[in-house]
Amino acid sequence: MLKTSVSKKIAMALSGFLLMMFIVIHLSINLTMLWPGKETFEQAVHFMATNPFIRVMEPILFLGFIFHISMGIYLELKNRSNRPVGYVKYDGSSVATWASRNMIWTGLFVLLFLIFHFWNYYIPFKSGEVHDHYLLVTGLFKNPVYTVFYVLAFIALGLHLSHGFESAFQSVGVPREKCYRWIHVCGQCFAWIVGLGFSLIAIYFYFN
Ligand code: HEM
Repeated sequence: MLKTSVSKKIAMALSGFLLMMFIVIHLSINLTMLWPGKETFEQAVHFMATNPFIRVMEPILFLGFIFHISMGIYLELKNRSNRPVGYVKYDGSSVATWASRNMIWTGLFVLLFLIFHFWNYYIPFKSGEVHDHYLLVTGLFKNPVYTVFYVLAFIALGLHLSHGFESAFQSVGVPREKCYRWIHVCGQCFAWIVGLGFSLIAIYFYFN
């Protein structure tokens, strides 16, 4: 199924859509820490940990991440090996945006953060060591190094999505001529709501 480059692009886009849905749910839950507050956040975390549908989705999401990362690295290496030698002299800025030319770097930075986040939050959470999730998350934001790394990772994700959102629609065949303007505007809004939304939560808890 994944033999042609078109099917690889479509699979990449589908994994991108899955990850974007996950990130919307994650941001919505994190925002409850700001408003209404701790109690609602703890209820949302409990719901995510116990709801049967979410339990089924968790391994699917995990596989989606593995697939997206592996395919992203594979496509990048393939693109590099296909480039003509003279490419080094080419000024890409006139054709493509910075975000579109650096998807692999913004992606790898997000991956670095994900590994760190997994180790810092997910493992203590799953091992049952932690009962007060609000305290764990807000406590991590008291560390300036963690908060700076967190904000940089979400700026990287914002950049990744500022190209990824519209690219995913294009990959699944949404006609560029008809819908480009709308998808572009929605993509920019989505990317920066995600990037700045997570960052503002971290900054708020660093200072408060
Ligand atoms: C929550 C995290 C992430 C989200 C929401 C996300 C989302 C997306 C989306 C929507 C696309 C566009 C797909 C398309 O063009 O059809 C994309 C492309 C890409 N992603 Fe991610 N991504 C994430 C993490 C990562 C990570 C960790 C990597 C690590 C390598 C990565 C590497 C790439 C690459 C290289 C592309 C461009 C593929 C290509 O078209 O050649 N992404 N991403």
